[in-house]
Amino acid sequence: MGLWLAAPAVLGGRGALERDMIAEDNFVDFTCPYCGDPVSFPRESAGFVQACPNCTESFIVPDDGGAVGRAIPLPITTARLVIRRLAAQDWQDLLELMADEEFFRYTDGVPLDEDGILRWLASDAHVKLTTPDQPFFLGLELQDGGKLIGYATLNFTDPQWRQVNFSLGLNRKFQRQGYARETVAALLDFCFRGLKLHRVASWCDHRNAAGLRLWEKAGLRREGEFVKNRWVHGEWATSVWFAALAEDYFPSQGQALPAGGSEPG
Ligand SMILES: CC(C)(COP(=O)(O)OP(=O)(O)OC[C@H]1O[C@@H](n2cnc3c(N)ncnc32)[C@H](O)[C@@H]1OP(=O)(O)O)[C@@H](O)C(=O)NCCC(=O)NCCS
Repeated sequence: MGLWLAAPAVLGGRGALERDMIAEDNFVDFTCPYCGDPVSFPRESAGFVQACPNCTESFIVPDDGGAVGRAIPLPITTARLVIRRLAAQDWQDLLELMADEEFFRYTDGVPLDEDGILRWLASDAHVKLTTPDQPFFLGLELQDGGKLIGYATLNFTDPQWRQVNFSLGLNRKFQRQGYARETVAALLDFCFRGLKLHRVASWCDHRNAAGLRLWEKAGLRREGEFVKNRWVHGEWATSVWFAALAEDYFPSQGQALPAGGSEPG
């Protein structure tokens, strides 16, 4: 294992034996925790989230070869919630949330009916955490009673640079009870400590007082806005962007290079 990613530019002029030894040293060989196949990743990827080249599931590359890759640390349990993948049986709770026009006030989305929810759940089942530019949905389930009261999304914009965008939506009946704050705190920990990501970002409509307050209170940096960049329900809307870096939360891991070790740019 570990030989197929040897970069010719780096190894040019070396003998085959020396090349193989260097390549072996630079790779971690382990087993995918999902499909059980052997896989091999550059040593710089250790501790970072990657996709299995065989089954495409996301896992965390272990520090030592010969081990089993670490499964993504889901579900997440908070004081009042279980944050987990969506499942087919969530359709009724999602319908309650998604049929509410008010929920879409600041987005160009439209309410979904039962068929729309079922189609969405069927396609969501194929999305992996690291699928680029695809929202990976997590349901917010009440520990008390098991009702699904909302969802969060993580969207890997750039797996190599370890960056995600995230978003959140709660059933109106459960808003203003601190569930979003509780979820964001857990997701920041999941992203920075669990997955060792570099940066998370989110945006909301400039008129969305709840969204603005949520990201500010969670400690995300207000980075800027795109003026009238979306057409929402008959008018141009401005998007305000927020972000946080790993070094804001864990100063020691802030300067880690992207998985694979290459400089961005
Ligand atoms: C934004 C949203 C997720 C907030 O959820 P929530 O569970 O009600 O938020 P919380 O109860 O954790 O409150 C977070 C902060 O926002 C404030 N807040 C919540 N709703 C608010 C509102 N309508 N107006 C002003 N502030 C509001 C809270 O007071 C709290 O601030 P505080 O700690 O200073 O009191 C929820 O309103 C929602 O789902 N909206 C529709 C989807 C959306 O707009 N998502 C945001 C874009 S990603």
